[in-house]
Amino acid sequence: MSDKSLNAEGKALLFTEARTHNAWRKKEVSDSLLRDLHDLMKWGPTSANCCPARILFLRSADAKEKLEPFLMEGNREKTRAAPITAILGNDAHFYQHLPKLFPHNAAMREMFAAMPDLAAETAMRNGSLQGGYFILAARALGLDCGPMSGFDPEGVTKGFFSGTETRANFLCNLGYGDADGLTPRSPRFAFDEACRIL
Ligand SMILES: Cc1cc2nc3c(=O)[nH]c(=O)nc-3n(C[C@H](O)[C@H](O)[C@H](O)COP(=O)(O)O)c2cc1C
Repeated sequence: MSDKSLNAEGKALLFTEARTHNAWRKKEVSDSLLRDLHDLMKWGPTSANCCPARILFLRSADAKEKLEPFLMEGNREKTRAAPITAILGNDAHFYQHLPKLFPHNAAMREMFAAMPDLAAETAMRNGSLQGGYFILAARALGLDCGPMSGFDPEGVTKGFFSGTETRANFLCNLGYGDADGLTPRSPRFAFDEACRIL
């Protein structure tokens, strides 16, 4: 496996040609595609296989309306237009599931339960990693993404995850982007600006 690599077309789909989208074509995203998305992203690695990400997919006008007051003004119109808006949350009590997810080391559950700061850091680190896998899995399935952190996370947590230990992390519009809505691609750092080899 490890001596294989994606061809240029695959790299373009995931990275070099993929853009963050703000305008959306009127093309629906099926429930089965959302299931395919989760079935792909779930294989990305997390520490102790803790898998803290929890995802709510908003499709209905009612669900979108409920979200809207919590959005920064600049994120409202595009969220209304997107076929799906995903709320990615982190389960603060992810460790309750370690006996299932990490069965060969049952002591991990008690370790995280006794160390809430470590649990919170682990949830944020790994939930955000899973958010990255989510974006790349969506692109691999031909979808476009519009991730957003411009919202009130406390409000979204209360509004959508009440009665659970899940906390909103970021939002991601999903669908088929309208390239006419794109602004020119912003630059990225060159290797020497961001990396060192010691
Ligand atoms: C976690 C995250 C949060 C973001 N939040 C917002 C946001 O609230 N509003 C917005 O318009 N764009 C938001 N963006 C979009 C970024 O500005 C965009 O992905 C970045 O400029 C790269 O654009 P490109 O993928 O087209 O190269 C966010 C992106 C990420 C990954």
